[in-house]
Amino acid sequence: MDKLLITGPSQLHGSVRISGAKNAVLPILAATLLCEQPTTINRVPHLRDVTTTMELLGSMGVNLTLGDDNSIELDASNVTSYEAPYELVKTMRASILVLGPLLARFGQAKVSLPGGCAIGSRPVDLHINGMRALGASISVEKGFINASVPNGLKAADITLETITVTGTENLLMAAVLAKGTSVIRNAAREPEVTDLANFLVSVGAKISGIGTHTLEVEGVDSLSGTEYTVLSDRIEAGTYLVAAAASCGAVTLKDVCLDSLNGVLDKLRETGAHITTEGDTVTLDMKGERPNAVDISTAPYPGFPTDMQAQFVAMNAVANGTAVVTENVFENRFMHVQELQRMGADIRLQGNTVIIKGVKNLTGAPVMATDLRASASLVIAGIIAHGETLVDRIYHIDRGYACIEEKMTQLGANIKRVS
Ligand code: UD1
Repeated sequence: MDKLLITGPSQLHGSVRISGAKNAVLPILAATLLCEQPTTINRVPHLRDVTTTMELLGSMGVNLTLGDDNSIELDASNVTSYEAPYELVKTMRASILVLGPLLARFGQAKVSLPGGCAIGSRPVDLHINGMRALGASISVEKGFINASVPNGLKAADITLETITVTGTENLLMAAVLAKGTSVIRNAAREPEVTDLANFLVSVGAKISGIGTHTLEVEGVDSLSGTEYTVLSDRIEAGTYLVAAAASCGAVTLKDVCLDSLNGVLDKLRETGAHITTEGDTVTLDMKGERPNAVDISTAPYPGFPTDMQAQFVAMNAVANGTAVVTENVFENRFMHVQELQRMGADIRLQGNTVIIKGVKNLTGAPVMATDLRASASLVIAGIIAHGETLVDRIYHIDRGYACIEEKMTQLGANIKRVS
């Protein structure tokens, strides 16, 4: 199994280009199941989750053609299977995103129930309840969600109990072909949800309230095809900025979406980072200084993203002062803490909060990646630690970071893949 061997410490300097957003491209690829004509998606990142989605769509009969320059053409005019098998769903929870499009266009779907995962139990009850409100009959048997609606989905007024990103996306994709006007209240406002909504509008969906907590969707009979460029990945961008801040370095990121990064940039300014922006470029410069500790409390967008929490914990581990980091979105998202402690971090875990007393140096150690963003925090820790860090189970990081060794190497890190 591949591992990453990092020899530190390194101070990061240089510039990298940010890829398309994982959490935007996955729902958009799923949404092409709704389209009766071929669609081309541009700026598709090279990620394991994208390959898994392509495999899933291909197994259903979607015709996929890889283009030059990170584009994929998808033609869902001959879908022959409506099933997402366990083998694929178990490696990628986002497979649940095919439920809404399959039900909306074909009136049936069989999707393996995603299990729990390292960051919490992560139920999909809100997806299922929402589909039922839209008229689907759903049974959950032998680990599968069996859904059908022979006469088509009907509009509904749905209030989500908890803000859910993929739940909102699934219901949005279902509602675009439902008869009548649906309302989705307490909808997630994450930029990736907005990107999906914009994609749906570009193929003929009628959606208002995009970017707000209330989405109004007037169902249409069919959706066409289009060419669409995916949003830039704010979590990938944030990860490189935090890595640079933790290493007292300076980086320039190209092709970023600045609006989606605001909360993270504000927190990085609090560390003492000098940040300048121009167009779709952002530069962070620590002027060689250690970052100051910053408190974080995660919340749905526009709050501080849970997907950036682990990286900030790694940075706080070497910051000046003490930081309090509170995780409000997932119940068990501190698996990186024990690994960072093994590298010399002074972190105390209390319920859903960690208290981090910054130390001057971390020490390299063998560590285990437990989930995608936890792995990113361990890579950051490895870059700033003295000596060798061997990050095991990096298949997690390959799910969500395009060419991370190449990009980190370009910034001056000493990092290589070993088996
Ligand atoms: C998405 C992102 C993930 C991010 C998360 C929160 C994708 C592919 N993944 O995950 O990177 O960390 O949003 O920003 O976009 N919940 C329920 N019932 C449900 C659905 C969710 O109780 O039916 C709860 C979850 O357990 C969690 C909270 O709602 O506590 C938010 O989860 P949710 O927004 O659904 O996360 P995902 O969409 O799975």
